[in-house]
Amino acid sequence: MTLSLGIVGCGGMGFRHMEGISELMRHSDVARLTTICDLHESAANHVADIAEKNNGFRPKIYTDFDSMINDSGIDILDIVTDTKTHHSFAIKAMNKGISVLTEKPMGITLKACRQMKEVQEKNNVKLSVAENYRRDPMNRLVKALLDSGAIGDLQMIVDISVSGGGYLMHGTGWRAKKSQAGSLILEQGVHTSDLILYFMGKAINIYAKTAVNNPIRKTSGMLNKQLKNFYGHRVEDQLDDSKEIEIDAEDTAFSVIDFENGSFGQMTMTSAANGYGFGNESIHGSKGTIKLPGSRNGNSPIIYRDSEDPKIPPISITGDDLLDLVPNWQLDDITSLYFDNKKRISSYDYSFEEIDRKLIAIEIHDLADSIINNRTPEVDSKVGMDALALAYAALESGESGKIIKIEDVISGKSNSYQKIIDAELNI
Ligand SMILES: NC(=O)c1ccc[n+]([C@@H]2O[C@H](COP(=O)([O-])OP(=O)(O)OC[C@H]3O[C@@H](n4cnc5c(N)ncnc54)[C@H](O)[C@@H]3O)[C@@H](O)[C@H]2O)c1
Repeated sequence: MTLSLGIVGCGGMGFRHMEGISELMRHSDVARLTTICDLHESAANHVADIAEKNNGFRPKIYTDFDSMINDSGIDILDIVTDTKTHHSFAIKAMNKGISVLTEKPMGITLKACRQMKEVQEKNNVKLSVAENYRRDPMNRLVKALLDSGAIGDLQMIVDISVSGGGYLMHGTGWRAKKSQAGSLILEQGVHTSDLILYFMGKAINIYAKTAVNNPIRKTSGMLNKQLKNFYGHRVEDQLDDSKEIEIDAEDTAFSVIDFENGSFGQMTMTSAANGYGFGNESIHGSKGTIKLPGSRNGNSPIIYRDSEDPKIPPISITGDDLLDLVPNWQLDDITSLYFDNKKRISSYDYSFEEIDRKLIAIEIHDLADSIINNRTPEVDSKVGMDALALAYAALESGESGKIIKIEDVISGKSNSYQKIIDAELNI
């Protein structure tokens, strides 16, 4: 069975999703790209040109979303528009019996996500969130190592991302606005939240300090060839490189999380550190530490364990030696298909473009397979909402000064940060 897929949103990530579905079509016939839609015909044409080169046929172009879902006969809608539109497009499509893959974050607020989940369940279609970081084989390996007890009982995660310079990503104006992006913290933090939950398990509560430290941002524009390749054709709300823009929501969050398994963690992120930046992602257990490799770079994780002799420095284990610690671990069939059918790898060497399209191919393939075999996709609405709730809980805590229960954010009991967005977008 081959499912027909349509992309709405032909900006930077929409271009990358076209590359992802093209990669899928080189490996499998579970889905094919038949349709694309963007408000701007020139952006849609650019993406269609490359799709035609990749796949040998040109997807049909729409500039009006309603016409696309009414006329195109697609089985899967791939939503890659800016965040404020995810819920309304998903709801319209699912009410027509079309399954949905939506870029992260699943929706602009938890209320939007609850509405999406309800419509999905009512129509008995599939809904998946395009959370690409966890799909990286190196993150799969980390998860297997943690589950096998390679560092003992989990005690702490320390996730710190300190970057800055006062720029706004890619000149995309919507990222400056709380009601369109949920803040810069949400835009990046939902990836971090998803990975933290993937590794550490359920989060119970969070306490955070948040701030807008660099409200006036320059637009970073197309800093390099790669970004230009991804974003150079986009039109909507495109900011000039020389322009300054004011962001109206948080760019900084320092938080402490309690997990159900008794461990705790630090999730610190800022894009407002002037002049100096650094990052750290490590998980600490009763028998050792695992230094996470990051996503989409192919680096191997590293495990550190204290040596028995205090005069000898800690022992590090990395590369193929890690595989000895997880003798039964294998990549799932869909993932290994995109990694030369290899089942056990401890690193890889692909360009960013190659690994990016492979991870997107995997998330589309997982959804298509879940439709064909009537199973739940890996990143379903629950997983998508849990990640969104953890990121929003930090923002809710920062605003109220209180410890916030994650369940209360999921249910809507804690929503003072989000309710302004809900009101503005009529959710
Ligand atoms: N997973 C990742 O690694 C990753 C990376 C970047 C962005 N994203 C997510 O992808 C989404 C898109 O981000 P982007 O950077 O590509 O943004 P973008 O602004 O470059 O692209 C959005 C596109 O949607 C189009 N659009 C907006 N409203 C529309 C409508 N009503 N009908 C048709 N087209 C419409 C715009 O014209 C634009 O081309 C966001 O939700 C973002 O969070 C994810």
